[in-house]
Amino acid sequence: MLIDTHLHLYKEYYKDIDKVIKEAKENKVYYLINNGCEKNSNKEVIKSIDKYQNVYGAIGIHPEEVENYSLEDIEYIKNNIDNAKIVAIGEIGLDYHYSKDNKEKQKELFAKQLMIAEENKLPVIVHSREATEDTINILKKYQVTGVIHSFSGSLEVAKLFIKMGFLLGINGVITFKNCNLKEIIKNIGLENIILETDAPYLTPVPNRGKQNSPKYILDIAEFIADVFDITLDEVATITTNNVKKLYTKMVIEKNQ
Ligand code: NI
Repeated sequence: MLIDTHLHLYKEYYKDIDKVIKEAKENKVYYLINNGCEKNSNKEVIKSIDKYQNVYGAIGIHPEEVENYSLEDIEYIKNNIDNAKIVAIGEIGLDYHYSKDNKEKQKELFAKQLMIAEENKLPVIVHSREATEDTINILKKYQVTGVIHSFSGSLEVAKLFIKMGFLLGINGVITFKNCNLKEIIKNIGLENIILETDAPYLTPVPNRGKQNSPKYILDIAEFIADVFDITLDEVATITTNNVKKLYTKMVIEKNQ
């Protein structure tokens, strides 16, 4: 059994969410963690976890939404944090790729949400793009664990995050040509990673060009099995175990 620990299962991307979930199950991907990014998607996450037994959720304000969010949106996160199926605060973090002139505002929003996670003892799902140093410095101030989603840094940075108690989220990017992630995960070991699609983005090989979907976790897992020269079952067992340890609110049944 495999788990997609990071995707954006929103109506604006998927016309038939029932079908997406069914196809995922047919490909051994049983549990999904739907990640919100702002007001509307956070509400959609809550609806999806109410509707689907195998869908869990994370709610948060994404750094790209820093100019658009209101305090009400932060209140919404606080008010829904006790939901039994909200397993993390995410997707949150820093993104200096498009905009560097609002760094301070981004840091403030990130810190605000880390504080909520710390107070409620929930893990965080971190988006860090071209902002490694600031991400590390802010995370160090809080007693939180979590995952560095879509990890793409160096081996040195990978080791640093792991030392801080974080797992690395590995997605379809690892299957791309000329990607150095293979060497990095070989070095850090399977016990430090969890699998994600980041659907609808970043479709893995061999389905590049199609819309990404949680069913493609299977392609990522098979790729990783080849990297380590182990079986798909071993990849599933180890990564599922990592998920269980991190997301303690998830109820993962055996034999799914
Ligand atoms: Ni994402």
